[in-house]
Amino acid sequence: MLELSSVSAGYGALAVLTDISLKVDDGEAVALVGANGAGKTTLVRTVCGLLRARGGRIVKNGADITLAPPHELARHGLAVVLENRRLFGELSVRENLVLAEKVGRKARGGKLRFAWDEVTALFPVVKERLDSPVELLSGGQQQMVAIARALLLQPDLLIMDEPSTGLAPKVVKDILLVIKALRERGMGLLLIEQNVGIASEITDRAYVMAVGRIVHEIGAGEWQSFLQDERLVKAYLG
Ligand SMILES: Nc1ncnc2c1ncn2[C@@H]1O[C@H](COP(=O)(O)OP(=O)(O)OP(=O)(O)O)[C@@H](O)[C@H]1O
Ligand SMILES: [Mg+2]
Repeated sequence: MLELSSVSAGYGALAVLTDISLKVDDGEAVALVGANGAGKTTLVRTVCGLLRARGGRIVKNGADITLAPPHELARHGLAVVLENRRLFGELSVRENLVLAEKVGRKARGGKLRFAWDEVTALFPVVKERLDSPVELLSGGQQQMVAIARALLLQPDLLIMDEPSTGLAPKVVKDILLVIKALRERGMGLLLIEQNVGIASEITDRAYVMAVGRIVHEIGAGEWQSFLQDERLVKAYLG
């Protein structure tokens, strides 16, 4: 389980996140939605230790990870696919994945949730390009490598920051199928997504963010009524 309690964070004099509390239970899929600049990526960066929380507490599987550096996340069963993917462009796909596999193996004492063959089978395109430098791949292929790499860290919770943004519809469809397969495999998911259609398709419930705060919760089973309420959608998502 991931739990944030009253988390705040910002950049220099700019306070971005205020009093953020949210929870993702084991195996649960939760979305975080909100307009541009709401603070979604700042929240992801704070959870994964790229940005220091200024207040509050972040707990994963009972361990306090509020100030844990990014390289310790795997040990807590947490993996993140960042907005800009952060792959090693000059290294081959295989090299990128092998690095993650080593970290994942160590983090889980050698016990693998996701074996290499299973992960590469999820992404046939990745499997065909194992020896290409990552920078030669298309944006969609790179996104798949980024997800494959995250899985090899052996997480029980995956945080994804807008995995579908900027990709062709066919690629988005492929990625959604993989995410659904991961859900069936019991993977917990915190999905940052501006497209509420996509978010409602893959997640059970959601938090709505605006100007650095959680301003609304969409409970389990409430996605449809939220989407049908034009006033709500417009007020929170613009
Ligand atoms: N490195 C930074 N330095 C200073 N301010 C930043 C930095 N990154 C983001 N901000 C500011 O923090 C606020 C929240 O940005 P953030 O990227 O978290 O929003 P977001 O919800 O992820 O938006 P988007 O939907 O566009 O990805 C914005 O006002 C933004 O200008
Ligand atoms: Mg963002």
